[in-house]
Amino acid sequence: MKILAIETSHDDTSVALYQDRKIIKEKTISQTKFHAQFGGTLPEFASRIHAENLPIILDEFLKEFDLTDLDHIAVTTEPGLIGSLHMGKLFAYGLGFALNKPVKNINHMHAHIYATCFNHDIIYPALALIVSGGHTQLWDVQSPKKITLLGQTKDDAAGEVFDKVARALEVGFPGGPVIDKMAAEATSSIDFSLQHERNLDFSFSGLKTKVINYIHNSKQKGLEVDKNAIAKGFQDAIVENLMFKTKLAIEFAKPKSIILGGGVAANSKLREEFAKLHECPLIPERKYTTDNASMIAIMSDYLSREQ
Ligand code: KG4
Ligand code: ZN
Repeated sequence: MKILAIETSHDDTSVALYQDRKIIKEKTISQTKFHAQFGGTLPEFASRIHAENLPIILDEFLKEFDLTDLDHIAVTTEPGLIGSLHMGKLFAYGLGFALNKPVKNINHMHAHIYATCFNHDIIYPALALIVSGGHTQLWDVQSPKKITLLGQTKDDAAGEVFDKVARALEVGFPGGPVIDKMAAEATSSIDFSLQHERNLDFSFSGLKTKVINYIHNSKQKGLEVDKNAIAKGFQDAIVENLMFKTKLAIEFAKPKSIILGGGVAANSKLREEFAKLHECPLIPERKYTTDNASMIAIMSDYLSREQ
């Protein structure tokens, strides 16, 4: 199965050429540096930049590969920033028309689940914890076509909170990778532990407020803050809550394998703790955790095989 996949749901313009569980080429142009100056993604600009980048990337692929023997084109159509999704979708359907190839619509969150399949075979039924900049979700995975949401965030997503805490600490954007590094270097920790509610939904806005208030109060009092200790305490609190909820979901769904995915799945502490939860943890390579077109291609391949 040879697939050209397109992903533009957020701030990465990504295209991948895929064949039989292997990536022939993936090209991603990240807009992070542009949006960093505003401290977060500006949706209108994100779509305009996708519109500029997509033809540049396609030209590169056309110079290197013959795309006339594709089986189909796959494109992310939900969820995401509406303008950004439209750019990818219009481009994919235009290309499909020009090459006379079918176009398949792919759900971005489902693709985050199947990103693990570059390295692992999913043993069904599976349970997936997907943690990204926009979502924190637990999914029951019976097959590529039977994926059911068990619980999700009621307010801020985990990645969003990493980014907001990093902003309050003035350590850059996106915050996840920086906080991950700072926590690893910490010599002490500040306790921000959460009360865990026994249900499968998530709420991180209380934790966000607690950490940000701590930073602001310390500054107002003229106290020196230990940024690494704050990063560690915050990261431990969020990971502990994610693990509590995942354990609860394991008790409920009794999966044969558990899958981790989404941008926050690049986090060292989360990867380490997730691996301890079950005898069959499926953790994707870091390069397939943050947004990429390769995962869109593999999801589309698995869906096609089901037909
Ligand atoms: O899945 P993703 O690439 O984009 C969305 O679909 O949202 O996730 C991006 C999120 C950002 O919030 C970023 O801070 C977070 O993933 N992230 C991390 C790490 N690397 C990226 N969070 C914690 N630790 C990391 N190492
Ligand atoms: Zn994502």
